[in-house]
Amino acid sequence: MDATTDIRSTPAPAPTPATALAGAADGLPADFLWGVATSSYQIEGAVQEDGRTPSIWDTFCRVPGAVVDGDNGDIACDHYHRMPEDVAMIADLGVDAYRFSVAWPRVQPGGRGPANARGLAFYDRLVDQLLDKGVLPWITLYHWDLPQELEDAGGWPERDTAHRFADYSELVMDALGDRVRHWTTLNEPWCSAMLGYDQGHHAPGRKHFPDAMKAVHHLLLGHGLAAQRLRAAAPQPIQLGITLNMGNSYPASDHPADVDAARRADGLGARIYLDPLVHGRYPADVVADLARRGAELPVQDGDLEAIATPLDLLGVNYYSSHVFSGLPEDGEAAPAADGEPFSRLVKQDLPVTAMGWDIIPRGLTDLLTRLGRDYPGLPLYITENGAAFDDTADADGSVQDDDRTAYFADHIRAVAAARTAGADVRGYFAWSLMDNFEWAFGYDKRFGLVRVDYDTQRRTPKQSALWFRDTIRESRTRQS
Ligand code: FCB
Repeated sequence: MDATTDIRSTPAPAPTPATALAGAADGLPADFLWGVATSSYQIEGAVQEDGRTPSIWDTFCRVPGAVVDGDNGDIACDHYHRMPEDVAMIADLGVDAYRFSVAWPRVQPGGRGPANARGLAFYDRLVDQLLDKGVLPWITLYHWDLPQELEDAGGWPERDTAHRFADYSELVMDALGDRVRHWTTLNEPWCSAMLGYDQGHHAPGRKHFPDAMKAVHHLLLGHGLAAQRLRAAAPQPIQLGITLNMGNSYPASDHPADVDAARRADGLGARIYLDPLVHGRYPADVVADLARRGAELPVQDGDLEAIATPLDLLGVNYYSSHVFSGLPEDGEAAPAADGEPFSRLVKQDLPVTAMGWDIIPRGLTDLLTRLGRDYPGLPLYITENGAAFDDTADADGSVQDDDRTAYFADHIRAVAAARTAGADVRGYFAWSLMDNFEWAFGYDKRFGLVRVDYDTQRRTPKQSALWFRDTIRESRTRQS
């Protein structure tokens, strides 16, 4: 946490004029990797096909009130049936790489036992088609669709789930490792643990902080065990990483209570993952905070060594940053009783996305330079960055999404600024290739470069997609 950077003094940016959209990638090198990202449950549909069993998201979507409008991923973007057309669309964007996730219950139904050949065959075809079009496949093994049977057996708070994840990972390596060189174990373990087991906003919808902390450790252990198995089983050299969601945590003032609130947020949001992954130990201040709340990280001998299996890269998903205060506002409730010190988010006077998330490109520069400083030697890739806005489509499906284009331009500039400041950032994946199932928000929030008409499944590139394509093209032309 860098208490010296202070977005409170940063004026709210004016809307980006069209001229400012040009040259957003200036300063990024010729070998910078450009990509688009999706995840299995958000786009695939076909939830009962070819032997797939339910994941925790299939179950959660059936809980009344859990997802906006009672939406679910049964059909989603029907990508399972439209994959060749979608791969052609990806190639048309001119990206280098496509980040997608493998659905665990599709390739290992129930989360144990042998691979399901029919489920694997889908990813086998996907990888071949990507390679055929010159697009690098970038696999995420776990983007939140835990087989329901494993949740029934205790889920991520249960240690055995980490072993199950390692087994599953090896099955995927055995099938695709001859052609895939980029492997990510987990997407955003913070979301799996905190939204899934503490706050209950995501599947499986549990609300128990000590269990969430067990989930943190077992997710990290699962990552570490899988990393070992993937390296051992890989038939060719691989690039191995994990993706974390992070923002910068700023204190609202220099008051010790505010500084401490930002420290705690950074501890539970970033360092509890980064320190064991990179340094092989949990941060002592976080462990002490947890003890005060009656929670612990159930570490056994050898766990931290496994978790610290060397990484080739770190994936960073960035959407926003936050300002924290440890001081109640007038009339606000006193500190919580369960040992958790009082903390509140201080809303900034900044433009927001349709998610209500503050738009803070500067936070991305601060985050990347801080990661470069505190965790040196680890190449960084932005594996997700993007924004939901309330798109209005013309009759032909086109969308003039200047707001989204400006968001991308400003954040790509923020990446270039971080590189100038010394951060080793090597790539950028836009979230998302196309509109899709946005978890608890269902189909209400649209993050796509490409619009999806859910009645017809027609795909139409938005203005932002054309801008992204041209920006990549120009950046290559300039440098060649
Ligand atoms: C991230 C998720 C991704 C998507 C974006 C908006 O937390 O990894 O699936 O939902 O947020």
